[in-house]
Amino acid sequence: MSKNYRESGIARVFDRNSAEREARRFLRKGLDSRIRHIIDALGPDRLKGSTVLDVGCGVGALHQSLILAGARRIVGVDASLNNITVAQELAAKLKYSDYVNHFVGDVVELEELLPCSDVVILDRVVCCCPSVVDLLKFVLAKCNCTLIITIPQVNLATVGFQLLFNASMWITRNEFRYVLHDPVTVTNRVLKDGFVANRVATSYPWEATVYRRC
Ligand SMILES: C[S@@+](CC[C@H](N)C(=O)[O-])C[C@H]1O[C@@H](n2cnc3c(N)ncnc32)[C@H](O)[C@@H]1O
Repeated sequence: MSKNYRESGIARVFDRNSAEREARRFLRKGLDSRIRHIIDALGPDRLKGSTVLDVGCGVGALHQSLILAGARRIVGVDASLNNITVAQELAAKLKYSDYVNHFVGDVVELEELLPCSDVVILDRVVCCCPSVVDLLKFVLAKCNCTLIITIPQVNLATVGFQLLFNASMWITRNEFRYVLHDPVTVTNRVLKDGFVANRVATSYPWEATVYRRC
């Protein structure tokens, strides 16, 4: 991983405790409504036999549902080793390891190792990235057909959260920053590549859009 990412403090934000908490919550409560909306929006006909690239997959909470809905192969990649370790443990526990390959690192740097896929997912990742230009270029190059992007809405509450969260990062000398990106800029960049957008109902403050180009 680049110096940039090592120094971004991402490993301290997405540490072993937060990864285990996320996995425990998933095992106890199942999918949250945001993920259910995403799976519904993808639809079983699109998922059946598909390959999926889950960028910034966290502990892979989406993966079991994607496989049950018919996905043939999933590649999950995350910048946090803690998240990937717990994602692998979860896959082994729920017996879907054979369907998933995991990678650790900054996706943009792993570009040559990561496959083009029918479905590319970018769920709650854009706000971890200072600049979306390279990330969007990467996902657009890797997506054969369907792209899902979930980003936070920009409003008074989320701007307030951004200020407080980043103040706490500054106090703890962590270089990681939560960044609100303009959803219109993100959408316009994707549409420029020939995708058609379809907004999905999702849980506040997350706004999900499914883009298709096939
Ligand atoms: C808020 S978490 C979301 C995890 C998961 N997608 C979910 O919604 O539950 C954001 C994740 O994106 C990962 N991430 C951020 N930037 C990344 C990058 N450039 N390459 C790979 N992973 C990245 C972080 O390590 C973190 O696990």
